[in-house]
Amino acid sequence: MRFTNKSVLVTGGGSGIGRAACLAFAREGADVGVADVSVEGAESTVSEVKNLGRKAIAIQVDVTDPASVQTMVTQAVAALSTLHVLVNSAGVREIVPFLELPFAEWQRVIAVNLTGTFLCSQAVARHLVMQGTGGKIINLASVAGLTAVPNRAAYVASKHAVVGLTKEMALELADKNIQVNAVAPGVVRTSMTESYFDKPSVVATLQKAHPAGRWAQPEEIANLILYLASPEAAFITGATFPIDGGFLAGKGV
Ligand SMILES: NC(=O)c1ccc[n+]([C@@H]2O[C@H](COP(=O)([O-])OP(=O)(O)OC[C@H]3O[C@@H](n4cnc5c(N)ncnc54)[C@H](O)[C@@H]3O)[C@@H](O)[C@H]2O)c1
Repeated sequence: MRFTNKSVLVTGGGSGIGRAACLAFAREGADVGVADVSVEGAESTVSEVKNLGRKAIAIQVDVTDPASVQTMVTQAVAALSTLHVLVNSAGVREIVPFLELPFAEWQRVIAVNLTGTFLCSQAVARHLVMQGTGGKIINLASVAGLTAVPNRAAYVASKHAVVGLTKEMALELADKNIQVNAVAPGVVRTSMTESYFDKPSVVATLQKAHPAGRWAQPEEIANLILYLASPEAAFITGATFPIDGGFLAGKGV
């Protein structure tokens, strides 16, 4: 058990990759703070974590709101005592052509994916410094943080910014023994992408875009997140790791 006596806080823990990470950490002995804007989502993950015999708390948070984020950290610390790992998995994305992208939609995606990652990381990092233990922050970037994808201007911009923020936090927090890294998945089957699978033409495009010929399951991304949160990854910081079935390796012509 790699995470015995460790406590992990996961935003977006009520669904998809965040939920898979909560369960993977719990299987390895961690207690888990499951934070999400959806209380139902968070509570359902909590009951699965408890079934694995670990302590868990559901926390309702809006990661775009500084006061809500501060309350999340206070509640997590009250329930779990010490914090060791933050996973920033809360995220949203648009599918709208650039020329038609409404300003409000741009703001919504930037607020959740970029500002949310900043607010949660800053609040948890301040706590880790006060605690004096060091810790780990793992951000959800995307292949869309490393290359453009059509009809996703706000998403692509927010994820490129998460890659930059990851480097900046790594630089400023290294001497506090806090390592900050990001993962950059290709398409993962979750509620964010579920609508792709209704359309055979989209499924064929996905298979072509990933040389592996398939998409990922959330558990595969959770495995990489756990590695980056583990002591084995102590010398890794400021890096973004593609986990994409070869998506970024090159395009078939
Ligand atoms: N699914 C993919 O193909 C894919 C690929 C690359 C990166 N990602 C990234 O992985 C992360 C998780 O995505 P997922 O696929 O698990 O999606 P998901 O929709 O299954 O989960 C996202 C969670 O974030 C929560 N959330 C949304 N806005 C929030 C807010 N303001 N405050 C708190 N929680 C909020 C949602 O309620 C949801 O539970 C996202 O950052 C996403 O951009 C996903």
